Amino acid sequence: MTVQRYDVVVLGAGAAGMMCALAAGRRGRRVLLLEHGERVGRKILISGGGRCNFTNVGTKAENFLSENPHFAKSALARFTPKDFIALVEKHGIAYHEKTLGQLFCDGSAQQIVTMLEKECVEAGVETRCGVQGIAVRQNVNMDSHFEIATSVGDFACASVVVATGGLSIPKMGATGFGYEVAKQFGLAIVEPRAGLAPLVFSVKDHEQWCDLAGVSTEVVATAEKQISPLRAARSGRDDKFRGRFREKLLVTHRGVSGPAVLQISSYWTPGGEVRFDLAPGIAVFQPLLETTAGRDWNSAYAALRTVLPTRLAERWVRVRANVDAGDWTNAGIAKLERELHAWTLRPDGSEGFAKAEVTVGGVDTAELDARTMESKRVAGLYFIGEVVDVTGWLGGYNFQWAWASGVAAGGAV
Ligand code: FDA
Repeated sequence: MTVQRYDVVVLGAGAAGMMCALAAGRRGRRVLLLEHGERVGRKILISGGGRCNFTNVGTKAENFLSENPHFAKSALARFTPKDFIALVEKHGIAYHEKTLGQLFCDGSAQQIVTMLEKECVEAGVETRCGVQGIAVRQNVNMDSHFEIATSVGDFACASVVVATGGLSIPKMGATGFGYEVAKQFGLAIVEPRAGLAPLVFSVKDHEQWCDLAGVSTEVVATAEKQISPLRAARSGRDDKFRGRFREKLLVTHRGVSGPAVLQISSYWTPGGEVRFDLAPGIAVFQPLLETTAGRDWNSAYAALRTVLPTRLAERWVRVRANVDAGDWTNAGIAKLERELHAWTLRPDGSEGFAKAEVTVGGVDTAELDARTMESKRVAGLYFIGEVVDVTGWLGGYNFQWAWASGVAAGGAV
């Protein structure tokens, strides 16, 4: 079989892969884009409830988790939300800001996929779907550095871009392929785990709270994530990333979900705690402190009902009353107030990759050039998008990273 030659082969036709392919194609590179699914951009299609939250106008490096919090800065600065919005506007796609800088299509997420497909065609990118059994080999003795064996033929190229995403939602085609390629070439991986995922109650918390499924309230969620021992050893520091989000919490049949929980789940590590301030900024039990009469569970419930949904207020008071006979001194009331602002859960786990919107961790950024996404060890090998250890908050940040890292590599290959 003859080997077909390209300048660049991009593996994975998701958000990052398509963006990279079109950026490289516009520069006159001969680009082949390979996808194992039957169609391109499947995650874009299901994103944002079908309307694709395609960017966040307030995107900053602080909106991302990574063992190296500075890594994303260069790519994000060189391809900004404004640049992606210009592309969306060029294609006449109507959009709106929903909340907190999050931009969604007015119509369907399909418009974003169609836009990227058109741009790829115009840039001369050749796209092949349904390609199985991809294997990458380096051949340093030939003018092309890499050989790509696949079910549809063999290819040779100077640059390979791995854009196969993370492990979230395997039924949408997610695989660990990118991590395997990284390992094959000796690159370090930050252990991947589920991010932006609902959390599962412990047995005890399940008994106490799960029948409230459907109840929702605004909270401040906090958790701390330790940097990996690998990075701590390299930097000589023992840093922690502290997540803090003021958004809605939703009780589910298995645990807690809602934006506050999804956000904080990316910071939570197994065995660790998550805290919820159930009444942010409100001194709920102040009325009890202002009187010496009527200090009891009924008045605590009456005060709590003014800020929490009735069922949650009633349950919180009942649970507290079971563990605490009720100390109605000023100190006892102050303690009750503190507990309300620090409802602490030690989840049994998260709902895992089946429900996670993203994968935290991935190819260690210490292995990559922050300007180009090229491997420092293997010239011509690039990693972009979710496969890299850069994970955005909920709210359009993950796509902005996919676009920006795709453009960074597309401009360098
Ligand atoms: P992505 O997963 O998009 O693409 C990887 C591609 O590689 C896929 O097409 C896959 O089939 C292919 N592939 C995998 N293994 C392969 C192999 N072995 N061979 C060949 N091809 C292979 N983000 C955001 O900013 N706004 C939002 O609204 C949402 N909404 C959202 C909803 C849901 C339900 C999920 C699961 C996720 C989101 N996200 C999101 C996150 C966002 O979808 C995600 O971060 C990006 O799609 C990542 O882009 P990538 O191109 O890196 O991976």
